[in-house]
Amino acid sequence: MIVVHAIAILQQEIAAWKQNGKTIGLVPTMGALHRGHISLVEKCRTETDCCIVSIFVNPTQFNDQMDYASYPKKFKDDSVMLKEACCDILFAPSEQEMYPAPDTRTFDFGMLDKVMEGRFRPGHFNGVAQIVSKLFQAASPDKAFFGEKDFQQLAIIRALVQQQNCPVEIVGCPIVRESEGLALSSRNARLTIKQRQIATKISQTLTKSYALVSSKTVGETIAFVTEEINAEPSLRVEYFDIVNGNTLQPVTDWNEADYIVGCTAVFCGEVRLIDNITYRKQKTLKNATPPCS
Ligand code: PAF
Repeated sequence: MIVVHAIAILQQEIAAWKQNGKTIGLVPTMGALHRGHISLVEKCRTETDCCIVSIFVNPTQFNDQMDYASYPKKFKDDSVMLKEACCDILFAPSEQEMYPAPDTRTFDFGMLDKVMEGRFRPGHFNGVAQIVSKLFQAASPDKAFFGEKDFQQLAIIRALVQQQNCPVEIVGCPIVRESEGLALSSRNARLTIKQRQIATKISQTLTKSYALVSSKTVGETIAFVTEEINAEPSLRVEYFDIVNGNTLQPVTDWNEADYIVGCTAVFCGEVRLIDNITYRKQKTLKNATPPCS
């Protein structure tokens, strides 16, 4: 694995791979890596010849400066993990390298970013679109790999690629969970052992709610999930929405769309965690998969 900090050097390396007819895969990250990220690296390695992982804590996607300042940074541990996972290039640019001048671009994602994360974190997805488009420009990957935990982010990035005619295939990868169900996240590093235990209530409640689809309305399911999670004093639901998985707009009836997903953001103490569950995908309820057993 080589570590590269400059876009010009990254592009030289990539040109050499491409000259040999090799395909390029990119896994964009903000570091503080865990098994979820490594699953993206593994997927990238099976689908492309050269695996690039970027580590850059992007300031423009944080609407809360405290959140930016406290975002975990573990570059040494990350490099070891990536080397072990057989990453080919670790791209770790400075802020000056990615933003030599302020990025004033604004993106229009219609209603996609007006709900859920977009509603509670204004400007967040504009910042994500800024950095992801810059990374795509720098690395010109054939494929880029993102986790489905950030369900709305994945939809936004698919829209970005379509709008900008980027010749990159976006690959969504399943959520990786702790054995008791907690979705892996870099933010979990900020949870105490006790909080980690408490936070499992989030995925466990989502899993329970999956069984309600045949007997409860969408509204009743929203009430169940919200009340059950809020019943734990250390947890506070910021939102739990049941949405059309393609448009991300709320649904009021289980038959309203072929693809239905429940998405939530929950505070565990000061730490904000997100998770989701697919209730329905494609034609029948049978195709849906619960997040964990
Ligand atoms: O999902 C993340 O870690 C970030 O939002 C991303 C895609 C790396 C952009 O900074």
